[in-house]
Amino acid sequence: MAKLFGNLHLVLAIGLALAIAVMIAFAPTAPVDANAVLRWLHVFFGIVWIGLLYYLNFVQVPTMPSIPAEQKPAIIGHIAPKVFFFFRYAALLTVITGLGVAGHGHGDQPGYLGRALTFSGAGNENLIGLGMWIALVMAFNVWFIIWPAQKKILGIVEATPEAKAAAAPRALIASRLNTLLSLPMLYCMVSANLG
Ligand code: HEM
Repeated sequence: MAKLFGNLHLVLAIGLALAIAVMIAFAPTAPVDANAVLRWLHVFFGIVWIGLLYYLNFVQVPTMPSIPAEQKPAIIGHIAPKVFFFFRYAALLTVITGLGVAGHGHGDQPGYLGRALTFSGAGNENLIGLGMWIALVMAFNVWFIIWPAQKKILGIVEATPEAKAAAAPRALIASRLNTLLSLPMLYCMVSANLG
């Protein structure tokens, strides 16, 4: 048992097999089309992304000042690079699958991506459009503000002490802004109910 649960890849493979079993069992009432699979993947990647955003904001950043100087390299050199790897690729995959859900439409309805993004949709299409725009701003922050700044802070790219000092508040503000935006974004995501 300990051996099985000690193997992350095996655990994930079993979880995947179980998810497929659930899909098959409920397929008569909940058809497993591309939309259903994209939606499921979208929520998975969204949780990885926002989960790590909350880890950074609720746990790592507030705890850093009280970590003794000689222990900080463990976070900076080992934990943080891993966090930012999963963080930025989960953000990218959340965007791709989310756009896929909207582009594919729901049931036999055609996609509503264009209408949602231009706020010219019907019913709750504009609500998900707002959620998509908020999440797109958040993804932009991850890839073009937080990650370039973190590369300097973590020493992944060469940076002068001044450049490092300037990167820290930039990364913090963008990360905190994403935490702020996540609350209205999630409301839009879970309330449109277009599927
Ligand atoms: C640019 C990024 C994103 C895009 C384009 C996007 C797009 C979408 C779309 C089109 C839907 C389907 C709405 C519906 O049919 O009711 C949706 C649902 C959802 N999204 Fe996102 N989304 C994004 C980011 C996120 C993030 C960061 C999360 C965080 C967890 C998230 C979580 C959800 C959830 C939980 C649902 C509800 C699924 C359901 O009830 O079937 N999305 N999103």
